Amino acid sequence: MVKKKGKSFVWQAARKHIGLLLSYIALAFVFDQIVIIGNDTIAKAADQILAGQKIALGDLMKTLMTMAFAGAAAAFGKSFCSGKYNAIVQKDVKAGLCRHILVLPLEYFEKSGSGGLMTRLSSDMNEVGRFFSEILPTFLINLITVITVTFYLAKMDILLIVILFASYPLMLIVADRLSKRLAKIVKGFRSRMDDRTQAAYDAIQGITVGRSYNLYDIMKKRLDAIIDDIAVHGWKSTRISSLGWSLKSIITTIPVVGCYFFALHETLIGRITTGEMLAFTVLLGRILSPIGDVVFSMNEFREIGVAFERIQTIFAVQTETGEDAAATIDRTFSQRNIPETDLAVSWENVTFSYQAQHPILKGVSFTAKRGETIAFAGGSGEGKSTIMKLLCGFYPKSSGSFRLFGKEYEAWDIQEARACISLVSQNVFLFPVSVWENVAYGKEHATREEVIEACKNANIHAFIERLPQGYDTLVGERGVRLSGGERQRISIARAFLKDAPILLLDEPTASVDEETEELLQEAIARVSKGRTVLIVAHRLSTIAKADCIYVLKQGVIAEAGGHEELLARHGVYENLMQCGMHNMVHNTEGSSV
Ligand SMILES: Nc1ncnc2c1ncn2[C@@H]1O[C@H](COP(=O)(O)OP(=O)(O)OP(=O)(O)O)[C@@H](O)[C@H]1O
Ligand SMILES: [Mg+2]
Repeated sequence: MVKKKGKSFVWQAARKHIGLLLSYIALAFVFDQIVIIGNDTIAKAADQILAGQKIALGDLMKTLMTMAFAGAAAAFGKSFCSGKYNAIVQKDVKAGLCRHILVLPLEYFEKSGSGGLMTRLSSDMNEVGRFFSEILPTFLINLITVITVTFYLAKMDILLIVILFASYPLMLIVADRLSKRLAKIVKGFRSRMDDRTQAAYDAIQGITVGRSYNLYDIMKKRLDAIIDDIAVHGWKSTRISSLGWSLKSIITTIPVVGCYFFALHETLIGRITTGEMLAFTVLLGRILSPIGDVVFSMNEFREIGVAFERIQTIFAVQTETGEDAAATIDRTFSQRNIPETDLAVSWENVTFSYQAQHPILKGVSFTAKRGETIAFAGGSGEGKSTIMKLLCGFYPKSSGSFRLFGKEYEAWDIQEARACISLVSQNVFLFPVSVWENVAYGKEHATREEVIEACKNANIHAFIERLPQGYDTLVGERGVRLSGGERQRISIARAFLKDAPILLLDEPTASVDEETEELLQEAIARVSKGRTVLIVAHRLSTIAKADCIYVLKQGVIAEAGGHEELLARHGVYENLMQCGMHNMVHNTEGSSV
């Protein structure tokens, strides 16, 4: 799952626009030079006045004003460059991250959960933004200031530099220790933020269960515990940061005071002029804070490092295809890409497990010829939906052979393979957009007429027409404003529009009333015409019409054949029928693809 290339994606984006950062550094340097030269000019003028010499005040004012304008221009330029650099790097990283997430394997989302991903996309990304907009520019500006002023001071007296930097080794040791501890706390803090997002997300997603079972207290307690823990982590990190800042101020102030005394002494014995001392004092004041900040930025670097690492762990996960995020994906099914063969789908001895040592499918074999309808039956948890997931390429099989139109599935371009398949699952997901858009997702550049035609075929047109805004009515998050049967028919309309040669139906009529079932059955019959259909169903009415029924039991095909043939065997199938498949209790929450 780990990809080497993605490891330094943030740095790649940062390097790509390095010109802006270099311009920023150059302008910051120019700005500092202007301040130093201005300082020098004032020092010389002060010396002249103290020596009783006359100075041309007009010329001095002109020089200082020119410098003020040049300084303002440099300040504007550097602030513009740093702002643009931050915006552009953040944009690249965010866009890259979103593109990458869209093509990650399903397994990744199942393992990591939505909470962690959401926090990384929001709060960790903000940290990256803070790094490029605040921390990096401030660090660079401090560094440039310290270097330029140090050079200037060194020219005055090298001993000043020795005194000034005498405490640096101590500062480095203290900053290193504190920042390491801080990074540890921040790691815990961020992981608890993931938990908080997840808990809030769960509470919102499960709002109806929560309300109907009065789970308010349980949810509140779970959230409170996480929020308290986050606060504890926050206090711990604030304590360390504050300790760092106070230690920094002690460690930096002592040598600076030493420098002031030294400069005073040098002036008194006449080694430097009063003007020089004045300039020195002003400059020392300028580096008083940056000199410590440069070292103690280590705290912030390590803190932000945690966010960087968390983002890079996402980039390090290999995409489904092993390629970087595809720029464009061709959604349209093209007959040209289909090899000429009579077999639409064939499986030979396919095994699969979600977790090692726990195989779900153990040597499953079946075939579906073009235009055939085959059905999968079996008890709950026997692996019917898993077959559908494998057919869509959500997971790779562990062993065996899986051919799509005679070609090994692995040899297909995954987008092309998916273009051949339409999936209608039991728990339909609708996007929070209009009805029309939800159906139109089935086909690139679908026209209004095509969408309406598909909806008519799916027996949902009349209903949509009665909605307040017709086809433009918004369906709400996950389609909550519609009933299960309505959502189901919209998803069938989507499949109509997609017009793929293979249709996968995973319990399309489960949990709907008889009237809706009739509407659905009609729609399914229309959409199935001329296609290869693989259906998972527990209703006799759906299953009996199939050309072949495969009965799954404990991960293997226990029986296969037509409805009558299977009943005559008096085996697993008959048993299922006798138990009353239409009355089977199905786990509708978790069984969808
Ligand atoms: N993502 C997953 N990770 C781990 N195990 C899973 C995952 N999805 C399903 N399973 C397990 O795999 C087995 C088969 O699940 P599957 O959803 O294929 O069953 P099913 O035959 O469709 O059942 P149902 O009729 O209840 O929908 C179950 O035991 C289930 O717990
Ligand atoms: Mg299922």
